[in-house]
Amino acid sequence: MWEKLKAHRAATENTKIATLFEAPQRAEDFSARFDTLLFDYSKTQIDTVGLDLLLQLADDQQVAKRRDAMFAGAIINETEHRAVLHTALRNIDGAAVTVAGTDVMPGITETLARMQRFSEEVRAGRFTGQGGQITDVVNIGIGGSDLGPAMAVRALSPYHDGPQCHFVSNVDPAHIADVLRPLNPETTLVIVASKTFTTIETMSNAATARAWMSETVTDPAAQFVALSSNIALAAEFGIPAERVFGFEDWVGGRYSVWGPIGLSLMLAIGPDGFLAFLRGGQSMDRHFCAAAPKDNLPILLALVGIWHHQICGFPTRAVLPYEQRLEHLPAYFQQLEMESNGKRVTMAGDAVEQVTGPVVWGAPGTNGQHAFYQLIHQGTVPVPCEFMVGAQGHDVGLEHQHRLLVANCLAQSEALMTGRSMEEALEIVRTLGIPEEDHTRQAAHRVFPGNRPSTTLVYPTLTPEILGQIIALYEHRVFVEGVILGINSFDQWGVELGKELAKALEPMVTGEAPADDKDGSTQLLLQQLHAHGV
Ligand code: F6P
Repeated sequence: MWEKLKAHRAATENTKIATLFEAPQRAEDFSARFDTLLFDYSKTQIDTVGLDLLLQLADDQQVAKRRDAMFAGAIINETEHRAVLHTALRNIDGAAVTVAGTDVMPGITETLARMQRFSEEVRAGRFTGQGGQITDVVNIGIGGSDLGPAMAVRALSPYHDGPQCHFVSNVDPAHIADVLRPLNPETTLVIVASKTFTTIETMSNAATARAWMSETVTDPAAQFVALSSNIALAAEFGIPAERVFGFEDWVGGRYSVWGPIGLSLMLAIGPDGFLAFLRGGQSMDRHFCAAAPKDNLPILLALVGIWHHQICGFPTRAVLPYEQRLEHLPAYFQQLEMESNGKRVTMAGDAVEQVTGPVVWGAPGTNGQHAFYQLIHQGTVPVPCEFMVGAQGHDVGLEHQHRLLVANCLAQSEALMTGRSMEEALEIVRTLGIPEEDHTRQAAHRVFPGNRPSTTLVYPTLTPEILGQIIALYEHRVFVEGVILGINSFDQWGVELGKELAKALEPMVTGEAPADDKDGSTQLLLQQLHAHGV
């Protein structure tokens, strides 16, 4: 099927996307809806034959079977010998989910209820710090223990009526120093978010936060909370069991915002908002499991991704939310996609035959338009763009600005598709009053090749439920892509080597150990850093 798809691509490479709209139903046929979401992929070169081949590929690779295995709690993360059940975290009022014969739902429900009770106590001022009501929450975590809650808290700021939330991730002391400096330790709650409770950045920052709090707070541990699947290490750190919110190892770090790792979100927007977020995710799960592939948003989004990266060979993918409050979404999707699918061997340990993992990047529109869209429109390598836009914003009285935002989003996908020909550019140049002999040269700079693919996801407004749907949509998209490539999307061995080397390098940085066995470059860098007092 890969070969057929590549042959079809070669045969249709020069097809003009705009001409595909000569088919009267193009937009309807190459878009799909779920609930209030519309996913439009008609502004791509995927045609009827291409779509059929892509759907056939998904079928050949047994996407439906793997999906069902995931939801059923099978050990699909074979290299870590784990089930993959972040979906159970949002299975509100759902059926039993069993892992090795045990229903995991009672445990999930109980932890969720504990999170709700704790959040209500904090938000109502019944759980206090030494100085009274908690005014600030500092979530210390990195990767999946940071990106999800930080993204969601920012995204849902119109619903934020709890304490201020701050996020510290980097081991760079600048991060924690800047976050803690303006805060009052006596009214601050520190959340140590780490699935493993061993991550060096998080443990270093947690120790720093504890020392900071100890300066004025008599019992700092009383203002600490742990979110982890390693309850024993959380206890060792000194956090009492009643403030440890646990989850199982079948929740991957980058999929963990739906459970305890989402506590900062629950504190920010309240338990009802958090439940709405879960309900949104759950509704997408149900759609993913029930809808026919041709109407199935996660499957279609994955197939569009496969088409652009593996078949067309476009190396990157831009995520462009026309929603300022989704400013952290590209970074969140970066981890989701690149840590999940940036793999070079199949589940069986053989070399993957296709390229894997596009580089995912992006920024909110309209900001990106004034920064990197130049390259998107006129660079030499097409960048498939994934636009997102809501029909309405939240900011009363500023609807005119929101409409301008929407117009910009639609204008960009149109411009990418239609471009501007040499003739059109020449016409413009002729009006500029420049010497005629310079017209061609000047016009060349104003030509847009067009025919650049994009998709657009339209939603009514960014509510907790819609955010839940969007996140679950992308999670499943990554899953489907991984299944099609035959890789394990749920491990991350590629981050381990650097961690090991950093541990070995630390004494060389401090000067406690010689660096004689290091390569010349590392030795030179160390010498320079030592010379400047590292
Ligand atoms: O190093 C990568 C990673 O393991 C991510 O997968 C994870 O999200 C992050 O580190 C943080 O891990 P933890 O939650 O265990 O501190």
